[in-house]
Amino acid sequence: MKDDNFLKENNARHIWHPMAHPGAMQDHPPRIIKTAQGSTITDADGNTVVDGVGGLWCVNVGYSCEPIMDAIAEQVRILPYYSAFGGTTNEPAIELSYELREMYAPEGMARAFFTSGGSDAVETALRLARQYHRVKGNPGRTKFLSLKKGYHGTHFGGASVNGNNRFRINYEPLMPGCFHLPTPYAYRNPFDETDPQKLGDLCVKAAIDEIEFQGPDSIACFIMEPIQGAGGVIVPPAHYMPTMRDVCDRYGILMIADEVICGFGRTGDWCGSRHWGVQPDMMTMAKGITSGYFPFGACMVSEAVAEVFENGDPDTASIWHGYTYSAHPVGAAAALACIRESQRMKINENAAPRGTQLYEGLLALKEKYEVIGDVRGGHGLMTAVELVSDTEKTPAAPATLKTAFETAYGAGAMVRIGGNNLLMSPPLVITEAEVDTIIAAVEAGVQTVS
Ligand SMILES: Cc1ncc(COP(=O)(O)O)c(C=O)c1O
Repeated sequence: MKDDNFLKENNARHIWHPMAHPGAMQDHPPRIIKTAQGSTITDADGNTVVDGVGGLWCVNVGYSCEPIMDAIAEQVRILPYYSAFGGTTNEPAIELSYELREMYAPEGMARAFFTSGGSDAVETALRLARQYHRVKGNPGRTKFLSLKKGYHGTHFGGASVNGNNRFRINYEPLMPGCFHLPTPYAYRNPFDETDPQKLGDLCVKAAIDEIEFQGPDSIACFIMEPIQGAGGVIVPPAHYMPTMRDVCDRYGILMIADEVICGFGRTGDWCGSRHWGVQPDMMTMAKGITSGYFPFGACMVSEAVAEVFENGDPDTASIWHGYTYSAHPVGAAAALACIRESQRMKINENAAPRGTQLYEGLLALKEKYEVIGDVRGGHGLMTAVELVSDTEKTPAAPATLKTAFETAYGAGAMVRIGGNNLLMSPPLVITEAEVDTIIAAVEAGVQTVS
């Protein structure tokens, strides 16, 4: 590796970074993260901070998981790659499909289609949803429903069901046939309803209204995150997802749970669907499946969905979709090791109390600082602090967020800016003391902008 001077000189010169302005990145190059251990990261200037972001909602087992490192190193030597397109497969992929089925049996998940990440998994789910109806003789069921504020990755399918216009406008026109429903976001919603229960009911009513308006026979699926992550940690009331499950059943619409963030322990349960007691028809997964040690994802389907494909006419039921790296043997080996370690360490059981600690600590800050308009979380380790500039809930300016963020970093914790929110999703192995560091750092951040 070249020396630090080379890295600093060339930082952002020849890379375009995701979710950033290329010119701005050249003017203000990103921080170089050099090493990481446990729940902490160290930058090129030698600062070590608690990683309140968990990489990007993904490093669930923390940065020091030797079994995953060993599994990757070993698998690279045994079989670094082979295609899984019809005709060949590999050992770790077979074993992983078995393990995932066991792990997600309570949700009724039966088969896994492997991908290289979350966007690929969402794309797979959306395509399979249309094909499912076609195999069943309903080719007119092509439309997709999703929630405003939802994030489902950046492929054209995922971006089209995405519920945040930041990820949409510059890429329009997106796919036709995608319709967005109001999300149960109690702090801001078109109903001016602050009671979560009543708001959940109103959102269900709006969903039914849209389904009736579109014509149920034209709708393939409804995709939702059990808890919306990137949109600002929007936690639905407990009855919302189960009620939407019933609505989907009533109208023959497939329910896709996008578990890319919520899966593998983040909510305090092994997935967000379990958190709300729902059996979806499909689940999309990535991030925590390998804790970010290898780019990998999956779309799982229920036994009922699997049967339709497996007994279907080969002309319509063959899956003409897949990625060169689907079922990548090194990724599958990483996932197997990650799942075993996640279960051995019971990271979900740590996520629940540490998540409550973080949420309550941040709620206490809200009492002290008017710049905090809302604090959301309390269901595992996904938490948001929404910053506002007045009592009218005007979103705080980007510069305010940046100042709060930089101050928090200086005070010992990396957090993430998402719109006018400070987002937190640390490793699930985080300690009580490290959570206190995040709370203190956020306090330092909001204090400077108060
Ligand atoms: C809920 C959800 N779905 C899909 C994605 C896309 O995953 P990826 O960035 O791995 O493509 C993300 C990424 O943050 C996500 O949060």
